[in-house]
Amino acid sequence: MSTILLAGGAGYIGSHTAVELLQAGYDVIVADNFCNSSPQSIKRVEMISGKHVPLYEVDIKDKKALSNVFLKHNIESVIHFAGLKAVGESMEKPLLYYSNNIDTTISLLEVMAEFHVHNFIFSSSATVYGTENPIPYIETMPRGTCSNPYGWTKVMMEQILEDAAKADPALSVVLLRYFNPIGAHPSSMIGEDPTGIPNNLMPYITQVAVGRRDHLTIFGNDYPTKDGTCRRDYIHVVDLAIGHVKAVEYASHHTGTEIFNLGTGTPYSVNEIVEAFEQATGVKIKREYGARRPGDIPEFYANADKAKAILDWKAEMGLYEMCRDSWNWQRNNPNGYQI
Ligand code: NAD
Ligand code: UFG
Repeated sequence: MSTILLAGGAGYIGSHTAVELLQAGYDVIVADNFCNSSPQSIKRVEMISGKHVPLYEVDIKDKKALSNVFLKHNIESVIHFAGLKAVGESMEKPLLYYSNNIDTTISLLEVMAEFHVHNFIFSSSATVYGTENPIPYIETMPRGTCSNPYGWTKVMMEQILEDAAKADPALSVVLLRYFNPIGAHPSSMIGEDPTGIPNNLMPYITQVAVGRRDHLTIFGNDYPTKDGTCRRDYIHVVDLAIGHVKAVEYASHHTGTEIFNLGTGTPYSVNEIVEAFEQATGVKIKREYGARRPGDIPEFYANADKAKAILDWKAEMGLYEMCRDSWNWQRNNPNGYQI
């Protein structure tokens, strides 16, 4: 079976994807500099799967170090998760975001060309639809105007990858636009382990639930939605990971660029998420309403038809599983991978 390189594979989505690829029979190798993750996640992946995962501490920007990984393995496809992803931090440190996210992409493309590796699956984001497209978002819409440098790096990387695929007829690029991944592996051995104060909703909720934070602040209750709080398309990270297995299969039989939304197609409000969490876990979440967070838009969700039609993929798990698994991961690992 072929070997898949997961660049940034020790992170939240990469580690879950590693499990699903191994279970589907692929060999997996991981290259990560652990700037936002721990090698422990891959130890846990090995425990879940019963398989060995070669792990390299490499900055993906470092082409020489990356080439050494390609020399050691017969890589067929690359999945590029290795990016910085904190929206607020990207506004304070735009150059760090542009250089890390874009240089990792170019470095991978160049080393892949050198080793005649043709399949590139990219972690993109619903953020590329920007602020002006109507909802639900569909892949045929133009990329929009982003409200922060993180989003712009995704727009730019999509463009770079499309251009690379136009110039090299052998290249197969799959752009996966994730909506809002939450949840954890049902084994509760791997999950999301943010450093510092979580930016995203679900890790904040689980840290309140486990007693690491006093209360959740809901950013705005005066949006034009039915309960005044923002609505998003939350997707279980295991469903998202399975989407990558389908994308790897697709990429190996196609060339050019193809874009897929990976979402459920159903939005939930912040209040609905908190209530679903309380119902699924029996744990009360202390919360209060605060000011709107700059850059948030009231509502977005996916049209997920294309992934169903072409990849034969759709999200199977609902809000109950997402909340249950987020909580089980957090309560069994109150300090994440830190032992
Ligand atoms: P994560 O931070 O958990 O994983 C990213 C991994 O990349 C980390 O292990 C980090 O150490 C590594 N990394 C970063 N820069 C690197 C470099 N220069 N060299 C080597 N390794 C490097 O994040 P995640 O949630 O797993 O996200 C994975 C990808 O999906 C990211 O590109 C992110 O932008 C994208 N994405 C995430 C979300 C989300 O909500 N989690 C939504 C849309 C898109
Ligand atoms: N929220 C709160 N309180 C918090 C955290 C979040 O009320 O403490 C609210 C936000 O205002 C938003 C919703 O919860 O209305 C979801 O916020 P997240 O930060 O979890 O997710 P976003 O939709 O803002 O963004 C996420 C990723 C982006 C990605 C986007 C689309 O963080 O990187 O999904 O994939 F681009």
